[in-house]
Amino acid sequence: MNKYNFKEQVGNEISFGAWISNKRSSGKIAFLKLRYGKGFIQAVAIKEKLGEEKYNKLRHLPQETSINVKGIIKENIREASGVELELIDYEVINISTDYPITPKEHGVEFLADNRHLWIRSEKQHAILTIRNQIIKSTYDFFENEGFLKLDPPILTSSAPEGTTELFHTKYFDEEAFLSQSGQLYMEACAMSFGKVFSFGPTFRAEKSKTRRHLIEFWMIEPEMAFYNHDDSMKLQEKYVNYLLEEVLEKNKLQLNILGRDIEPLKKCLGEFPRIKYKDAVELLKKNGFEDIEYGKDFGSPHETFIANHYNKPVFITNWPKDIKPFYMKEDINDKNTVLCADLIAPEGYGEIIGGSQREDDYNILLSNIKNNNLNLDEYKWYLELRKYGSVEHSGFGLGLERTVAWITGNGHVRETIPFPRLLNRLKP
Ligand code: 4AD
Ligand code: MG
Repeated sequence: MNKYNFKEQVGNEISFGAWISNKRSSGKIAFLKLRYGKGFIQAVAIKEKLGEEKYNKLRHLPQETSINVKGIIKENIREASGVELELIDYEVINISTDYPITPKEHGVEFLADNRHLWIRSEKQHAILTIRNQIIKSTYDFFENEGFLKLDPPILTSSAPEGTTELFHTKYFDEEAFLSQSGQLYMEACAMSFGKVFSFGPTFRAEKSKTRRHLIEFWMIEPEMAFYNHDDSMKLQEKYVNYLLEEVLEKNKLQLNILGRDIEPLKKCLGEFPRIKYKDAVELLKKNGFEDIEYGKDFGSPHETFIANHYNKPVFITNWPKDIKPFYMKEDINDKNTVLCADLIAPEGYGEIIGGSQREDDYNILLSNIKNNNLNLDEYKWYLELRKYGSVEHSGFGLGLERTVAWITGNGHVRETIPFPRLLNRLKP
């Protein structure tokens, strides 16, 4: 039995280590909010039971003091956790002095400077717990779908998503980059294992300072042999549905702590609408967006408008070939567009998935590489995948932090990763 499964421990006497995250007290009774690692529990200390000396000492212990506690788990339906601890005894481990993050409001920069401590607060704890659930559910989902988890390299010599946003580094005498995406390597893996996915950090030296951009973010990248783009979109729909169902079921407590309105999330379950890029441009124009024209990428106001229009995650398909990477396959039924889709989350959280069918014809891919002025030498191995038993294949990348931001209802991706790397932040 897991001793921290407190609901199963009602009536039992238990001991555990914890930190005092908050407290309030009167002359006779004290309520402590204890963080025990996995979560928070209220402890009730009664002067009469604890003895005067111990009680008075406890009342004055500073926030974040670490203690060992012993007590009886009691049911308490007024607590979000459904239980509380009736304190029998305690022992101080380390007294915390001048903890900087108090229960009052603090500015965002101050909190970010203290990220190593900020992750202890209840809200941050809830967001990162949901992040963990999404990772776990991702592994479960892809295992059930018959995928193998494989890891592409982080130090690379190729730049699948364009050369402007690369982090350069020395690799002995050669020049290397930090990976922007594991996709090209996952394509090689799919030709061996059929269905594969990766999960790892990716790096983009983007000069964007928005609530959706991190410099270092984690991406889940499935790649499937014998899948066309329609098959891939169906899988994406199933995957995102699964993540939503899992979090709605398993993270009720955290969603409640965050005050997340779950009705808009529930409405997302089921099929996701699809709109072609060119129709999205028309829709935007009709609704007063004068800055948009065919061939331009969408900014966040455009994405937000389209997503709100449907109130569901929406696939924007068939983007113009010119503004998408070289590896995407042209749609023979809609020339000059590619078989790809961005999945836009509702409520203004932006693009959470980018995916496409990959060009599987050797000669077309070769000319795409040349037309994009890419170094042929660099893509020799990638081209070879089209030489030895090339097959139709597709894949996609889901941005973990944006997905966590959307599901937790958190406005900024910086709170969805323990230590965010932002344009102006490499510390802590
Ligand atoms: O659309 P992107 O650039 O697609 C790829 O990298 C493909 N090679 C993936 C693939 O097909 N295997 O990025 C995929 C997702 C985006 O939809 C977004 O959710 C996230 O990665 N993303 C970012 N998240 C946080 N900060 C950034 N700077 C991000 N850039 C992309
Ligand atoms: Mg994209």
